[in-house]
Amino acid sequence: MLSIKNVSKSYSKGKVKAVDGISIEVMPGEIFGFLGPNGAGKTTTIKMIAGILPIDQGRITIAGHDIEKEPLQAKKSMGFVPDTHDIYERLTGIEYLNFIADVFDMPSSQRKTNIEKYLEMFEMKNAAGQAIKSYSHGMKQKIILTGALLHEPSLWLLDEPMTGLDPKAAHLLKEEMNTHCAKGNTVFFSTHVLEVAEKLCHRLGIINKGKIIAVGTLEELRQKGDASLESIFLDLTGEKRDDHA
Ligand SMILES: Nc1ncnc2c1ncn2[C@@H]1O[C@H](COP(=O)(O)OP(=O)(O)OP(=O)(O)O)[C@@H](O)[C@H]1O
Ligand SMILES: [Mg+2]
Repeated sequence: MLSIKNVSKSYSKGKVKAVDGISIEVMPGEIFGFLGPNGAGKTTTIKMIAGILPIDQGRITIAGHDIEKEPLQAKKSMGFVPDTHDIYERLTGIEYLNFIADVFDMPSSQRKTNIEKYLEMFEMKNAAGQAIKSYSHGMKQKIILTGALLHEPSLWLLDEPMTGLDPKAAHLLKEEMNTHCAKGNTVFFSTHVLEVAEKLCHRLGIINKGKIIAVGTLEELRQKGDASLESIFLDLTGEKRDDHA
């Protein structure tokens, strides 16, 4: 479903190698959690998958479509939630959602059903008529999520999607992720919340300094014993200290 092959990306004319030859395959039906310390290269990778950052080397395909050679087909199969809340603030929530639905050429019955479903789910019905600039951080995240998922893309590409969501909304989003994947779709998301990753993901990938240092199920990452994901993460990223008193 999502294939990342030998992908690299540098910033500042090659001075900062943010992503260094990574390869990941994510299958239909999988929730894949992308973990790593701050500055590891998660957002850079996600932006290349989304087609908003050019790839220096390597290749990314979504549902068989190359994101650089066939960007329209690739983007039709994907719903992207960035880690920022840069959004059209002057629009109302409902104007924004209809704009997104227009971009994806959604039929009116599907757009009505899905807009209602997510506004209801995220308790945003009353706020939908207000300008986005009046929204709280979490409300913006909810309207961005709704816009990204509206057209029922088979790949959900989410950069720290739980950030700013209240516990109920985060819980509902996790349930939606499970339902989505149970239908044979795919979720690729980054998070720093290891408890969420541990419970929700079928497979995990850990990136550190631009390189993938581990990929697999939690059982595979553990190799032996029953270590928590937190302890595996700290071990692998070299942040575990023996002298913690
Ligand atoms: N626009 C940019 N210009 C220059 N360097 C950048 C730019 N964006 C990211 N970087 C660098 O690339 C590296 C990877 O950053 P990236 O944002 O991908 O990390 P991340 O894993 O998403 O981190 P976080 O957990 O903090 O979100 C870092 O060293 C960062 O400083
Ligand atoms: Mg990031």
